[in-house]
Amino acid sequence: MREIRVILFGLGRVGRALVEEARRAPFSLKFVGVFDSTGGAVAPNGLSDRELQELVDAKGADKSIASLPGGLPYEEAVAELPGLFASGPGVLLDLTAAGDTLVPLIRAALDAGWGAVLANKLPLVGPLDLFREFTSTGRLRYEATVGAGTPVIALLEYLLNSGDVVKSIQGMVSGTLGYLLAACEGGMPLSQAVREAWEKGYTEPHPAQDLLGLDIARKALILARTLGLPVELHEIKADPLCSADLADLPPQEFLAALARDDGELARRIAGAKRRGRTLRYLLRVGEDGCWVGLREVEMASLLARARGNITVLEISTERFGSTPLVVYGPGSGLRETACGVLADIGQLRARLGQR
Ligand SMILES: NC(=O)c1ccc[n+]([C@@H]2O[C@H](COP(=O)([O-])OP(=O)(O)OC[C@H]3O[C@@H](n4cnc5c(N)ncnc54)[C@H](OP(=O)(O)O)[C@@H]3O)[C@@H](O)[C@H]2O)c1
Repeated sequence: MREIRVILFGLGRVGRALVEEARRAPFSLKFVGVFDSTGGAVAPNGLSDRELQELVDAKGADKSIASLPGGLPYEEAVAELPGLFASGPGVLLDLTAAGDTLVPLIRAALDAGWGAVLANKLPLVGPLDLFREFTSTGRLRYEATVGAGTPVIALLEYLLNSGDVVKSIQGMVSGTLGYLLAACEGGMPLSQAVREAWEKGYTEPHPAQDLLGLDIARKALILARTLGLPVELHEIKADPLCSADLADLPPQEFLAALARDDGELARRIAGAKRRGRTLRYLLRVGEDGCWVGLREVEMASLLARARGNITVLEISTERFGSTPLVVYGPGSGLRETACGVLADIGQLRARLGQR
């Protein structure tokens, strides 16, 4: 199948990058539905390139789909989904920052034999049973949720499919925290580094998600569950990089208030430096437990040499023994995330329509 029907939820930064990057894919996407938080444009025969570009341009100019010619209010557009699901196979994309609100739609798509591809982590970090229900279909993929476009989930699948046993995964997966720590090590105050990362699109829509360690804990959970470990989010211990009480503020106020935490991180960085080490925000996933937090690492280690927007994971397996497999690549970014989504769509081609 060279043309794949897709329903895109989320025409934000990642969604718009996906539309752009899809032009380079070795298959073409037919967008039969495009949604934002206000509404959707539905076209059973596919939106034309011009119609799609108009939506992208309008969203880039902060307009809402419901207000555009051809845009339907959200509930009305959602009511069109059963018809789209019934009229042939396709892939539902959750590239939203909508929490887990799309869970019922993802379930409906999978029940109809469709595939689903997620850049949004939230539907994967709820109850373990839901994760198992979705992944047992073999038609739910989520590469972009960990390490953006750096293949991590696909690599774990490769290892597991070969019958190997992954004993542990350790390293840095959040490009955002790597970027922030590199900037702070260079002398920039935490609050300024966070503001710059947010403006470049490196952080979660609300940057507190990154600083509380919650976002990286979610990634650890997704990795753990991919390995088959029966873990819930609350079982992953996370060390925060900012005061917990700031997290409820809206992003702009959060960024303004964050300056009060600048000193604490600067002190920890200076302490590590005195001991000839450096700080990295790490995750560890294994049968012996899962945690995420700030740790001092030796200057000569690969983790210390990885600066900025980098994912580094050491994967220890039974077969590879004392030589862990190392993944090293970009940790976040809009194009990279879009590439992870496209790779997943490509992987699903052969499986669509199979129930
Ligand atoms: N940025 C990265 O490097 C990166 C990397 C990996 C994963 N991700 C994940 O990718 C997702 C999108 O990130 P982003 O940076 O593109 O966020 P964003 O710019 O805030 O865009 C989010 C989009 O989701 C839409 N949306 C919200 N609720 C919706 C709903 N119920 N139905 C349909 N659309 C809905 C929003 O609509 P409105 O425009 O109407 O608000 C917006 O278009 C997030 O889950 C993020 O964690 C991002």
